[in-house]
Amino acid sequence: MENHGNGVKRREFLKRSTKFAAATMFVGLGSSKLFGALSSTQIKNSIPTVLLNNGIPMPRLGFGTNTLKGVIGTRCVHDAISVGYRLIDTAHIYGNEEAVGEGIKQSGIDRKELFITSKLWVDDSGYESTKKAFETSINKLGTEYLDLYLIHRPRGDVKGSWQAMEELFTEGKIRAIGVSNFLPDQLDDMMEYAKIRPAINQIETHVFFQEDKSYEFLKNSETQMEAWSPFAAGRNGIFSNQTLADIGKKYNKSIAQVCLRWHFQREIIAIPRSSQKAHMIENLDIFDFELAESDLQTIASLDLNTTQFPEWG
Ligand SMILES: NC(=O)c1ccc[n+]([C@@H]2O[C@H](COP(=O)([O-])OP(=O)(O)OC[C@H]3O[C@@H](n4cnc5c(N)ncnc54)[C@H](OP(=O)(O)O)[C@@H]3O)[C@@H](O)[C@H]2O)c1
Repeated sequence: MENHGNGVKRREFLKRSTKFAAATMFVGLGSSKLFGALSSTQIKNSIPTVLLNNGIPMPRLGFGTNTLKGVIGTRCVHDAISVGYRLIDTAHIYGNEEAVGEGIKQSGIDRKELFITSKLWVDDSGYESTKKAFETSINKLGTEYLDLYLIHRPRGDVKGSWQAMEELFTEGKIRAIGVSNFLPDQLDDMMEYAKIRPAINQIETHVFFQEDKSYEFLKNSETQMEAWSPFAAGRNGIFSNQTLADIGKKYNKSIAQVCLRWHFQREIIAIPRSSQKAHMIENLDIFDFELAESDLQTIASLDLNTTQFPEWG
């Protein structure tokens, strides 16, 4: 039997998380000096959490930072925190951990209010390299610990990396450990040696690539699914898709909001990226409507069942 942290099944976590989310609707905003800058709409729409398999809460909507580098990266992270984001997703390979760290510092927010994710790149796989890469990442980010550290891709010495990450977790330097871009079989293989089951699998998922196999697998496991490129990074004309626009009209919501609400109703954590403050605010405003079953079925029909990023294969 796998080690599930506190031994409670994820389904129970999910059930509890609904209650938890309601109870913590304003957590992460109340004690911040940014509170005064938030409108009532933003406060109303602050972000629910899900309990991961080790019992720690993770925001169900966060901010992606791929390609946001240097002063732009710093400004975007600062803006994102100022409008209410608390989950910030970065990675060594994005080359922006320093810029992200600077944005966090400039925001003045209490570190404990944030949920910071970074990822171990393929070149750093293996036990010793993982420990070094982790130290490099936290130093660049200007933090003493990570909330979540992911193996970015299932390449190299995954077993050695995972052992190092389990130790860092046990030492309290990482609050949750997980993986990214792992297929169900690759997660099963890990469980041959893993003492801790990955808390997260962050994979490409959006309306054009719904990943039904991974979705069903993860839904019935204690590994939470997280979507990267929840807007397919704008590919395949997503922001001018007529079907999504028509659905949005019914609820007075944009295509972006329909997409994010769809992820939310599937219980998938999403980390949209934006360089524009207006979009950041718009993307948070998804908690006051519910897509009807018929709309979910229409969105299901948009699935092309293939990656929109074949160049990353
Ligand atoms: N684990 C992995 O292998 C992996 C791979 C890729 C990405 N990721 C993570 O996932 C995050 C998100 O994915 P992504 O960055 O590829 O792309 P994305 O979030 O799917 O899409 C970003 C694009 O959407 C636009 N956008 C955002 N909000 C919008 C709105 N309300 N209306 C219209 N356009 C909007 C942005 O333009 P504007 O800037 O103009 O708003 C940007 O061009 C990344 O940043 C990264 O943190 C992880």
